[in-house]
Amino acid sequence: MGTAETNTADAPSRVSESPRDAITIRDERTGRTYEAPITHGTIRAMDLRQIKTGPDDFGLMSYDPAYLNTASCTSRITFIDGDKGILRYRGYPIEQLAEKCSYLEVAYLLLYGELPNRQQYDEWVHNITYHTMIHESLKKLMDTFNYDAHPMGMLIATVAAMSTFYPDARNVHDEPSRTKQTYRLIAKMPTLAAFAYKHSLGMPYVYPDNDLSYTENFLNMLFKMPAARNYRPNPTIVRALDVLFILHADHEQNCGTAVMRSIGSSHADPYVAVAGAAAALYGPLHGGANEEVLRMLQEVGSVSKVPAFIEEVKKGKGEKRLMGFGHRVYKNFDPRAKIIKRMAEEVFEVTGRNPLLDIALELERIALQDDYFVRRKLYPNVDFYSGLIYQAIGMPTADFTVLFAIPRTSGWIAQWQELLEDPEEKIARPRQVYLGPGERDFVPMEQR
Ligand code: ACO
Repeated sequence: MGTAETNTADAPSRVSESPRDAITIRDERTGRTYEAPITHGTIRAMDLRQIKTGPDDFGLMSYDPAYLNTASCTSRITFIDGDKGILRYRGYPIEQLAEKCSYLEVAYLLLYGELPNRQQYDEWVHNITYHTMIHESLKKLMDTFNYDAHPMGMLIATVAAMSTFYPDARNVHDEPSRTKQTYRLIAKMPTLAAFAYKHSLGMPYVYPDNDLSYTENFLNMLFKMPAARNYRPNPTIVRALDVLFILHADHEQNCGTAVMRSIGSSHADPYVAVAGAAAALYGPLHGGANEEVLRMLQEVGSVSKVPAFIEEVKKGKGEKRLMGFGHRVYKNFDPRAKIIKRMAEEVFEVTGRNPLLDIALELERIALQDDYFVRRKLYPNVDFYSGLIYQAIGMPTADFTVLFAIPRTSGWIAQWQELLEDPEEKIARPRQVYLGPGERDFVPMEQR
């Protein structure tokens, strides 16, 4: 924009007659107009800096708490159209991937940009399968947690601790090292998660089994008992969990992913970056919502109490929320929620119907007709039905967010790799608008 600056205090602003990709801004303080190029529907925030009232003015900034309208990066991984309810990974509609792919196939797509051919897929699966074991000392670290420690706390702590086992991970610009950490992270997250689960039950850990698929192995580590040698996860449950993993694998620049990129931008290793991203995911407004949905459905208790609960939410004016409803980006159905809702029926055919489903369906039915929710464009999100499936397959409520973090790891790493290869990226460092006191002199303690 700098070069396009024109002083129009005396000359009328010269707005081009032919349409072009630019915006003209008039600063009423000075009477100057500026032109900023528009690229991909954005202007560069740095272009605003040259809008000044005088040489001592720092220059104009944009103020955007919670990044409501700020793109912090360019990305080629995930596309969302929140108004139309569209989600695509690398261009492929989520519906097609959920129907036709395995989770590891999708993880490969996210990381490498293309679906793998047979040979690439077999190699990829082999590399993940052969990195699932964790260091015995990490297992001992798991032992040190209290029996009632939250599984997300254990997962976050142990994945951060992996940083100390793999010091080569600090070579973030070394591609072979990055590839190795990618295998380790995707392979070991289920092991850490399953060990955390077994620890909370006081049961012996079940080691990974290389004869099983990614999801089968995870279920095996969770539910196999030493006494039951012939445990084999139900294929419908295996497929359902695999689809849930696909649906949760990436979701562009959400809170957790923004943390992953932010930590990654300081060139910290990927283990601590994933720990940070997982910590963000833990919150009840983000991935922790699936846990809250189940608590909410239990609190409602029965279908007949749904209308009263909806009224309470409306009266609460944002204090009490309908968990699993609403989304920063989707102002329409979350396409993932539609797939999960259909899948819940398949799972319940195997596990028996979860009575909380009827409460969820009634909540959805009433909310979608209620003006409060309609006006605010609040629709079910990915967390509304996922918890019901997790519960049906035997997971305790506290473990739900862990089941989100496992597949999201592939998305986090894909975003981290993209960040490191982007020549425009620098260490993340937002600006602030300072509203505190001006300069004042120190007051000794006895005079305060
Ligand atoms: N129940 C009731 N009211 C809601 C809900 C809800 N679930 N979500 C938003 N609203 C209301 C707000 O009170 C606000 O009303 P107002 O305009 O009268 O003040 C309006 O809708 C807009 O809400 P915001 O909080 O400004 O929307 P934002 O984009 O910041 O929030 C969020 C998005 C955090 C997801 C929100 O919808 C929410 O808290 N939902 C429940 C938690 C949840 O399900 N989170 C999971 C999201 S998916 C994911 O992270 C994986």
